[in-house]
Amino acid sequence: MVITIPNVLSDNELKQYRQHLNSADWESGLSSAGEQSVQVKQNQQLHPESKLAQQLGDHILQAISESAKFVSAALPLKISPPMFNRYQSSGHYGWHVDNAIRIIPGTPIRLRTDLSVTVFLSNPDDYDGGELCVKDTYGEHQIKLLAGDMVIYPSTSLHQVLPVTKGQRLASFFWVESMVRDHEQREILFDLDQTIQTLGADHGLDNPQVITLSALYHRLIRLHVNT
Ligand code: NI
Repeated sequence: MVITIPNVLSDNELKQYRQHLNSADWESGLSSAGEQSVQVKQNQQLHPESKLAQQLGDHILQAISESAKFVSAALPLKISPPMFNRYQSSGHYGWHVDNAIRIIPGTPIRLRTDLSVTVFLSNPDDYDGGELCVKDTYGEHQIKLLAGDMVIYPSTSLHQVLPVTKGQRLASFFWVESMVRDHEQREILFDLDQTIQTLGADHGLDNPQVITLSALYHRLIRLHVNT
């Protein structure tokens, strides 16, 4: 399931991000590509251990931790430090699958990539192309969101970024190891939680059926959390 979450970053925050990123030192994206990705990757990244990447990344972690929809969709156990990339001048990233395991830079911590996340930092009007295409069991999705919006998709999905033929596309990306490893179990929990939130808003969180459904949700969480 591909899930989008709007307005993770405000217009003011985005303005500051773009100012910092426009004057940053970018390096070839090949430095973090695996053997297969090297063949198809043409973009730029901030060095993951640079001070700027760490500062902006910490800020994104703070923003997503305050997003109830993100927490419900991802049920995060570990989140990799957000990285930043730039596509311009026909830059692209052909079809690939993200590595199943990532080592968090500068640490011995390993993370199983259950979910891949992209936060769009450029306005879609400011560049041509650059759609994120994700293939899942329902077909192919083409994703190009407003600046500040976020997309979450299973890391097992084949995906690509189409060439940016005009302007530049700035984004942040990271991976989540979820407390619920199985995608179907996690999706059912997410749909149930979203439904409870909607019912709670319509009928009040003290509605007896809403309370019963909440209790069932938490019983299912206990069944499915594998930590
Ligand atoms: Ni990827």
